Amino acid sequence: MMRQAGRYLPEYRALREKAGSFLDLVFNSELAAEVTLQPVRRFGFDAAILFSDILVVPHALGQAVTFAAGEGPLLDPITDRTGFERLTSEIDHNALAPVYETIRRVKADLPPAVTLLGFCGAPWTVATYMVAGRGTPNQAPARMFAYHDAAAFDVLMDVLVEASASYLVRQLQAGADAVQIFDTWAGVLSPDQFARWCIAPTRRIVTMVRLQVPGAKIIGFPRGAGSQLPRYVAETGVDAAGLDWMIDRDFARERVQSAVPVQGNLDPLALLAGGTAMDRAIDAVIEAFAGGPFIFNLGHGILPETPIAHVEQMLKRVRGS
Ligand code: CP3
Repeated sequence: MMRQAGRYLPEYRALREKAGSFLDLVFNSELAAEVTLQPVRRFGFDAAILFSDILVVPHALGQAVTFAAGEGPLLDPITDRTGFERLTSEIDHNALAPVYETIRRVKADLPPAVTLLGFCGAPWTVATYMVAGRGTPNQAPARMFAYHDAAAFDVLMDVLVEASASYLVRQLQAGADAVQIFDTWAGVLSPDQFARWCIAPTRRIVTMVRLQVPGAKIIGFPRGAGSQLPRYVAETGVDAAGLDWMIDRDFARERVQSAVPVQGNLDPLALLAGGTAMDRAIDAVIEAFAGGPFIFNLGHGILPETPIAHVEQMLKRVRGS
């Protein structure tokens, strides 16, 4: 389980308190490695996901990023072209050196059979936070920016493509076995916009990463892509696709899993609900996908209030133990 996953674990909350701010924890390699390993130790998961955040990329491009308690991320918003002047044209790998160090430490500590996943946000999703300065219900500020000045928005996307590709390359070189590109806000785009702001930049990242790391394994997760997902997979060249919980499972099996392995798609709310409703939801996921290449996973991030007992019940059911 991933994506702001640690918060349901008391051992995460304890370390988080000790570290100070969220970014202090991310950039403390020793503690970040510990946080990465915590869920693997507790549950024996098959993979670990690097503890970091998608917003370290704007941070390493010179934008002020903070995480206010209870408020989520806050950035100094970029509302028009002039806002780019505050950004550096290239990502500062020195600022990210602790993240690469975290990967080296985790890799050294993980059992060899456990996969280590690195990640970044997709340019579109990262841009939505850079423009709005925070999460918003439908990321309207970035969409407005793109309507008002599409050429300027393309410039921002270009900066993010370069930055994200070189960030992923460094993660792979540091020891990540595969990397995942999170496009959390892909679902608010029209089909034309999806092609321009989601598929095209992701394809460029995939190409750039593989030029430097031949055979690099890349998972794409365009949340809310729905009927656009087969096209996303075909045109970006990702090796596997994350499925949110909203997608039609028969469609995903026939049009996506037939091409690449899929990962997903239990509704995080079903895990929170627990009981027989959760069991039925788990069975439906397994029934749909277990006949092909499949990684059981949530369809989005785990909710912080999820009881650990529900996670244990889910694992028993999935593993058949
Ligand atoms: O699961 C993990 O802990 C792995 C590391 C990870 C984090 N963020 C740590 C984190 C990963 C893979 C992410 C991805 C991420 N971050 C995404 C893409 C995936 C998704 O969930 O859609 C996005 C959009 C972000 C941006 C972000 N970071 C938001 C919106 C928030 C606030 C979330 C909320 O509900 O309050 C964060 C904070 C964050 N990132 C936390 C963690 C553990 C919580 C910080 C804390 O309170 O300790």
